[in-house]
Amino acid sequence: MTSYKQPDTMPELRTTNPEPRAPSLPPWHDSRFMRACRRQPVDATPVWLMRQAGRYLKEYRALRASTPFLELCKNPELAAELTVMAAKRIGADAAILFADLLLIAEPMGFRIEYDKGPGPLVRPALRSGTSLTHLPEVESQDSLAYVFEAVRRARAALDASLPLIGFAGAPFTLASYLIEGGPSKTFRHTKTLMFSDAGEWHALMDYLVRNLVKYTRGQIEAGVQAVQIFDSWAGCLAPAHYREFVLPHMRQFFAGLPQGVPTIHFATGAGALLKDMQDAGGDVIGLDFRVSLGEAWNRLGPQAAVQGNLDPTVLFAGSPYIRKQVRSILSEAAGRRGHIFNLGHGVLPETPVEHVTALIEMVHEESQVLR
Ligand code: CP3
Repeated sequence: MTSYKQPDTMPELRTTNPEPRAPSLPPWHDSRFMRACRRQPVDATPVWLMRQAGRYLKEYRALRASTPFLELCKNPELAAELTVMAAKRIGADAAILFADLLLIAEPMGFRIEYDKGPGPLVRPALRSGTSLTHLPEVESQDSLAYVFEAVRRARAALDASLPLIGFAGAPFTLASYLIEGGPSKTFRHTKTLMFSDAGEWHALMDYLVRNLVKYTRGQIEAGVQAVQIFDSWAGCLAPAHYREFVLPHMRQFFAGLPQGVPTIHFATGAGALLKDMQDAGGDVIGLDFRVSLGEAWNRLGPQAAVQGNLDPTVLFAGSPYIRKQVRSILSEAAGRRGHIFNLGHGVLPETPVEHVTALIEMVHEESQVLR
């Protein structure tokens, strides 16, 4: 099976011309999405949506009717098919790998269950200090080989001009699932460990970062063009706690990833943490909808690239309102280089698919008008 290599690992092309020639770059290299990640000019603002391969699509629901979520994730053929189908169906400027943030918890020794609660459950919850020292190193080339195979298959099936985004959870968000055993409102157990046993906390974060780096690098080697790091729940932290307990580990994470593959650093409810997130790393900062994109960008500075940030519930409104909101976000971006349009969080399950396709068209149309 052919897979596209990153440009810096492309073999030199043999040529009769004595002048050394730059190796030719794959078509996705000059796509709107990749150009925006590098803050280069684009013909229209690129757009993709978190959870674009999810329950709002009838094609997804049809597959899900017969196959549990975890089985879909573990079947590279189906995972690749969902990745490609979703991007094509809505006309997005990038595909995102169909997988889940919690898959890595299994080879860490946890069971994950998706159909039993209001959100995914992780068992047994990581609570006692002693269990931390027994977490196994993840040999992701074995235990998560199915993810890398899905990447290879999706990359081979996608139009060569469409970039494929891989992703991983950030260590704090992953730790919170392991420790709470599922979703949480207060993150009480996670914070209690952090505050009462800093040594154990930092050791756990080191362990998670080490293994997340291997996993993310595995996706890059298998053929993704960019990665998004989801620190979905970091917004629950006081800025001082983020700086002390999370930021150094995020720095380690980003430092462990190869140069030249754009990274998107995303969190929700994290308006007060944006500068610290930027300080921690990431080529693009992913904004949720609780901040104004223009103000956030002013704070981040002109050298930042920014992704976001339409409230996903706007997609339940009529198309005049959706268009108004698209215009408003594009005018906040004010033609700055490095804007990737996205929702401020994932597409909600009951969202009408025709509103999603209309949104993508509007972003392209309206951003061309503004240019
Ligand atoms: O389309 C895409 O964005 C790619 C696939 C993707 C999924 N999960 C598929 C999925 C991605 C990027 C994720 C990331 C993820 N998973 C995050 C970070 C994003 C965020 O929302 O902040 C988190 C926190 C998780 C853990 C997780 N998995 C949650 C909170 C849920 C939601 C519960 C629910 O039922 O909606 C899941 C399940 C999940 N992950 C689904 C999908 C398509 C729904 C599964 C189903 O069909 O029931």
